[in-house]
Amino acid sequence: MVYQQDATRPTRAEIDLTAIAANVRTACKLAGTAAAVMAVVKADAYGHGAVPVARAALGAGATWLGVAAPEEAAALRAAGIRARILVLGPIVKEQAGLVAAHDLDQCVSDPAQAEALSREAASRGHIQRLHLKVDTGMGRVGLPPRAVRLAAERIATLPAVQTVGLMTHLADADADDPAFTQEQLARFEAVSRDLCAAGMPIPLRHAANSAALIRHPEARLDLVRPGIMLYGCPPCLPPDPGDPALVPALRLRTAVSQLADLAAGGSVSYGRTFVAPRDMRVATLPIGYADGLARLLSGRGQVLIRGRRAPILGRVCMDMTMVDVTHVSDVRVGDEAVAIGRQGAEEITADEVADLTGTISYEVLCRIGPRVPRSYRGGDPPMPA
Ligand SMILES: Cc1ncc(COP(=O)(O)O)c(C=O)c1O
Repeated sequence: MVYQQDATRPTRAEIDLTAIAANVRTACKLAGTAAAVMAVVKADAYGHGAVPVARAALGAGATWLGVAAPEEAAALRAAGIRARILVLGPIVKEQAGLVAAHDLDQCVSDPAQAEALSREAASRGHIQRLHLKVDTGMGRVGLPPRAVRLAAERIATLPAVQTVGLMTHLADADADDPAFTQEQLARFEAVSRDLCAAGMPIPLRHAANSAALIRHPEARLDLVRPGIMLYGCPPCLPPDPGDPALVPALRLRTAVSQLADLAAGGSVSYGRTFVAPRDMRVATLPIGYADGLARLLSGRGQVLIRGRRAPILGRVCMDMTMVDVTHVSDVRVGDEAVAIGRQGAEEITADEVADLTGTISYEVLCRIGPRVPRSYRGGDPPMPA
């Protein structure tokens, strides 16, 4: 279901596009003059809204966009975005038409995919740009290094494709031990050298996600593909003092919809997992797990109200959550409650929520549901050509 966005709903995600732009500029500075920056905006820009984020990223210096699937790119094209867009995920042959129709770059992991793309492109009088993906250790998609040369030779015989990129993905770039990343990069370099020696140099080599961009300068090559850092979350935890400062771009907020006194011995929410040890004041918030507030936060998470931490009481429901405001003076119906982000001197980061729910900041951001309206500040910068 596509929701009509209701700007009056107190539950909303506020996205600061100036924070996105600042983080993109940080990525550009790290990339230096040799490497271009691809802003990874898959999964609706990690929950932030792909079109406004893409515009902000392009306005701040990124020249490429990365998505997981062609339909994500189609939505960007429909919004008038003309920058190069690479589909990072694998496709089936039925998706080749969408890739060609929107003039996308496509990553390929086997010659059969390239053949399907070539057939589709030829039927449209188009030349399809490909990025050959090498599996140097992620164990997900890509050609094994020993198979790349033969695949590149086969692809070179196809009439309507051009291999413009050689890429790999790093499995462990955020680890303290750099050894596996170095090994992956060495395998990638060997493949690249082998292709050059065979007379098939590939102009654009890329490997770096956010963690590699920050911690592995040797991974920057010709193009970098940062995602999570653009949203203000540190890719390596705990961050080093030398890591660049990042600005969180998203606040998930709602407002108190009801206040009630709860007598000692009274219980809250399904299953009565919380029983009041003393007389308490309880606030009900119109946000639940259907909005992306994880049920795993039941009895463990907190929100911010009037700059104070208010613990979640009992189970998070689908649409509502109850919190303890006994210690918060002057709390009123309508007061803002922040589930992710800053309020006053306090902050709840996506990483704090991830820690409590056994996941990573990426998933915390992506699971903010489509029912939550996104509002933007920082405006749309002028669209680059
Ligand atoms: C191929 C590829 N490159 C780059 C990225 C961006 O990674 P990160 O968000 O860790 O910077 C991703 C994200 O998963 C990816 O799949």
